Amino acid sequence: MTETRPPKKKISVFNAFRRLVPVIYGATPIFFLVYTVISISHGLLWGVETMMQQRFFDTATLFAIGKNQFSTVLRALAFLGGANIFCQILNGVANYLPDMFAQKVIGRLTAGINKKMAKLDPIVFENTDKLDDINKAEQGKNNSIWFMFIFTTIFTFYLPYFLFMGWYLFTLKPILVLSIVIIFVPTLLTQIIRTKVFTKLEDKLAPKRREYDYYESCMVSREYFKETRLLGGFLYFKKLYLESLEALQLLRFKATMKTNLIELLMRLLTVIGFFTIFLMLFNALMKREITVGAFAAVTNSVGLLYSIMEEVVCRHIGHMAESMGSIENYLNFLDLKERRGTVVVAPIWGDITLKKVSFSYPNKEKPAVKDASFTLKKGETLAIVGENGSGKSTLIRLITGLYLPDEGHVFINGVDTRELGIEALYQNTSAVFQKYQKYQMTLEENITISDPLRKYDEKTLDGVCQKAGTTKEEASFPDGYNTMLSREFDGVDLSGGQWQRIAIARGFFRTHNLIILDEPTAAIDPYEETRVYNRFAEISKNKSAIIVTHRLGSVKLAHRIVVMKEGQIVQIGTHDELISGPGEYQRLYRTQEKWYIEGVGSDKKRTEKGAWKSHNIEETFA
Ligand SMILES: Nc1ncnc2c1ncn2[C@@H]1O[C@H](COP(=O)(O)OP(=O)(O)O)[C@@H](O)[C@H]1O
Ligand SMILES: [Mg+2]
Repeated sequence: MTETRPPKKKISVFNAFRRLVPVIYGATPIFFLVYTVISISHGLLWGVETMMQQRFFDTATLFAIGKNQFSTVLRALAFLGGANIFCQILNGVANYLPDMFAQKVIGRLTAGINKKMAKLDPIVFENTDKLDDINKAEQGKNNSIWFMFIFTTIFTFYLPYFLFMGWYLFTLKPILVLSIVIIFVPTLLTQIIRTKVFTKLEDKLAPKRREYDYYESCMVSREYFKETRLLGGFLYFKKLYLESLEALQLLRFKATMKTNLIELLMRLLTVIGFFTIFLMLFNALMKREITVGAFAAVTNSVGLLYSIMEEVVCRHIGHMAESMGSIENYLNFLDLKERRGTVVVAPIWGDITLKKVSFSYPNKEKPAVKDASFTLKKGETLAIVGENGSGKSTLIRLITGLYLPDEGHVFINGVDTRELGIEALYQNTSAVFQKYQKYQMTLEENITISDPLRKYDEKTLDGVCQKAGTTKEEASFPDGYNTMLSREFDGVDLSGGQWQRIAIARGFFRTHNLIILDEPTAAIDPYEETRVYNRFAEISKNKSAIIVTHRLGSVKLAHRIVVMKEGQIVQIGTHDELISGPGEYQRLYRTQEKWYIEGVGSDKKRTEKGAWKSHNIEETFA
């Protein structure tokens, strides 16, 4: 599945920085200003400290040969000590600030993610690729913050320090500037090679890891457990599991060995580099081009320069490279399309009118709905029928304003759905879809979760349960509405049909002017579906309702039936009108008739299997 995805949009480090500045700096601008100033001063002060060292050594040597007064030495020492103490203080503050403010920034960004989520255009959720971005955005957010801190630190602390040192070395003797390069190159090379090796390793590991995870789940997950145990497959999976584990470890070991070897080589180069610098310095000292103080101070600081280089290149840049993937996810998430409607209160309930509505899914050429026009009247029960894939569900999403048409208009009581803000979308609507949720909560919670703010009593619950064809008296609900519907939490296990009826009850519970049943009955037999839809049509009086199905037998009671074929509305009318003339409806009806007519006149009670066959279609709808 992952193979067929288009490659992800790559974002360069600088682009990421440019885009994150307003998001993260914008969250607490004053802090970042303070941090930047402190960081720059800190970096420069490190350089100044080296200069102070030189001054101290120089005055001390001069004092030793009697060419200087002790007070001068003391003054130099005081400056050195002062610089050192000040440096320590700045260091403490610079370390403390990010932790303190990270919390604040994280809070702001989390709120930002939630706000963005709420504003997302629902069409975004149709794209699996984008769903991935959404899931990973949270992690990318945290990485983005640290990325910004590191990036800021590199430019406001390390860079000023290196520049200062470069300038200082240059004033001593221009060739000494080379020492920075000599230290820098091997460290950088090591890091580049390491990143390459590990990226390649990651590519190799991914499929192996999938295998490994799969075998593991075959052995321990609940769904596999019974069967794997039962069929004696456990040992077999264990063998495969251990083999893939071994393969994984071998790959990792090889990569680590390789990088360690390279690192060793590079360190050797660095040692040679150190030695060269030392020789250069010594040579300069002998020729009296630099003072003893400068010699001592620079020798002293070369070690520091090296460890800092290593810290920047290996730790910081390495981390940044590692987190780029998740930062991309975060930025892609921020780019997702938003819904921009300005009307936030749902229009007063009325007719819904579609005018020449067409819609295509992203990355699909053929429109899912084409040129659809009709009006759903206030209080009307409308059925939408058609074969699988004919565009019924898509039409529903257009009617409710969930999706916006590419062409044409949908008006809810005269208001174009394009003008509706996301807040206004669901205010009047309740729906039950084919893929409903099974919440691991009590029966009561499973029903009332669709409208948590609604006031209700037990009678309300009884009512919606009855409409959905279930009741708390069922044997499966030993604690009535308090029955826990989850085996994981010591509750009961329900059948698919029972879950379905609960989902329908949930749909009824929600306060609504329009209710939609989009094939929530697909998994149950046509007879049961018809019963549910009949009850539904009965109780939907005064409210607009849409029932969707590919089984025509269930929709006779609807005021009107919309027949869809390949995205287009091919017929609209009552059952009697549509059945009396030739057309798609009649064709579909004829092919399905046998489902209902077989075994006419036999016992009406349902038997275990295929019981619905024993019902005459006419009786079923009566
Ligand atoms: N999320 C989606 N992304 C891309 N294409 C889709 C998506 N959902 C449905 N389609 C396509 O749109 C057409 C209509 O689908 P749908 O409205 O679900 O039909 P129905 O509800 O009648 O079965 C089909 O060709 C289907 O493949
Ligand atoms: Mg559908």
